[in-house]
Amino acid sequence: MADLYQYREQSEEPLDCLYILHCSGENSLAGLEFSAKEKRQLRQKMKALSPKGNEGEIISGECPLEIAHRITFVGLGEEKRLTHAKLREGLRRVIKQAAKNREYQIALGLAPRVHGLSEAESRLFALLEAAIADYTFDHFKSKKNEFDKIDGLHIVPLAGETEEELEHRLEQVRLYANAVRLARDLGNRPGNDLTPEAFASTARELCEEEAGLRVTILGPKELTKEKMGGILGVSQGSVQEPRMIVIEHRPKKPKKSLVFVGKGVTFDAGGISLKPARDMGWMKYDMCGAAIVLAVMCTVAQLELPFKVVGLIPAVENLPSGTALKPGDIITMANGKTVEVDNTDAEGRLILADALTYAGKFNPDVVIDFATLTGACVVALGHEAAGIMGNDTALLNTLAKLGETAGERVWPFPLYEEYFSSIKSDWADMKNAGSRWGGPVTAGTFLKQFIPEKVSWAHLDIAGVAYAEHPHSGLPIGATGFGVVLTLSYLNQLMKG
Ligand code: BES
Ligand code: MN
Ligand code: ZN
Repeated sequence: MADLYQYREQSEEPLDCLYILHCSGENSLAGLEFSAKEKRQLRQKMKALSPKGNEGEIISGECPLEIAHRITFVGLGEEKRLTHAKLREGLRRVIKQAAKNREYQIALGLAPRVHGLSEAESRLFALLEAAIADYTFDHFKSKKNEFDKIDGLHIVPLAGETEEELEHRLEQVRLYANAVRLARDLGNRPGNDLTPEAFASTARELCEEEAGLRVTILGPKELTKEKMGGILGVSQGSVQEPRMIVIEHRPKKPKKSLVFVGKGVTFDAGGISLKPARDMGWMKYDMCGAAIVLAVMCTVAQLELPFKVVGLIPAVENLPSGTALKPGDIITMANGKTVEVDNTDAEGRLILADALTYAGKFNPDVVIDFATLTGACVVALGHEAAGIMGNDTALLNTLAKLGETAGERVWPFPLYEEYFSSIKSDWADMKNAGSRWGGPVTAGTFLKQFIPEKVSWAHLDIAGVAYAEHPHSGLPIGATGFGVVLTLSYLNQLMKG
């Protein structure tokens, strides 16, 4: 992974290439902090190469400045239509080109503004996209990806930006980028590697030993004591024992209390209600909600936030076997409510329900859960937005606005009382799956039954955005880390507000 530097910080040897990302019809150099002389030289070069700035365009030549051997102009299209996705695409192209040409030290001039963002926001998020653009997951490959050799991204300051300002921006971006990379790495680890137990030991290592947070792990014995029938029930078909991972950031005199809950199904075969073989392999990504929570908690520790923040990760494997839950079984959840298991593939809500009950112990003001919960959410929204629902319109609106800014968009579903009728059971307090219709809201309605009183709650169904089956919108194949930046932006806003 490439380190981020200020351009000119290490100027002994010329860099391999200076990349300038620019939009069509814009003065590409105006936004960058070059001297008047340098700008003259660059303008001359541009005249000769005449890049148009159209989307997809890449034009290279010899660099007229001493700082780099070569210069490459990368087009992003019209600035008023510049989205996070287009910027990501452009940066991904930079990385591909650099790897292909063996340019391992590159400078990056990144002045275009993402449409709809303030200048400060655009500066931050553009740089963040740059910092994660070289992400690949080749942990299990003998031959490492060529991207891994790109060593240094040297950022050209923006016009008027002081060294301190840029360094401040770089600090924040490094923190966010590490969190996104961590969430992606966890997401991409296959089911046989990242079992519930391995998830728990990873949390101990990263959150407790490295970040200094308090980590408590509940195994079968403790889960039984807490009467967590949902978590125990789902895991009973697998030889992998369940875990509930509790990660706590507890400052003195906290101003607020927040709990984040992440679905941690390390593999979801569906259980006895077995999924079709086709595409089942993607269900190793059924713990991406949990990955967000772990990555956010590590970052929370580094930010020294003045809030109590708790991360809860119910981690299980959902497999069919002679000991597995069966359709028709009735289980008792941690809050005493009974659930008829109508479909063992609706397992996420069962484990989340117990975790949401447990959240009550921390007297939270706000609870947010993240889950790859329903295929129906993917049918409804595709891969460009997560579904969001909850009980507090102000919280939902805040997250929607921040998501737009962060390039992690969320779109609301309603949770009308009437939806409960579809999960009414003849034999228990409710059942875990309803009719075919309104999948995301049925799941949300189920979760709502387990929200502690007076808590402001948001549920994010990230089934469509947590991982990419094909590279698209500038995202790599596999886990995207969706939700990490949104959550960190939310915490950042709380801290300021
Ligand atoms: N993990 C799946 C949801 C999912 C589907 C995530 C596709 C990502 C992509 C979840 O556990 C599940 O199987 N949900 C069922 C619920 C149904 C049985 C009510 C579904 O969506 O089919
Ligand atoms: Mn399932
Ligand atoms: Zn699942």
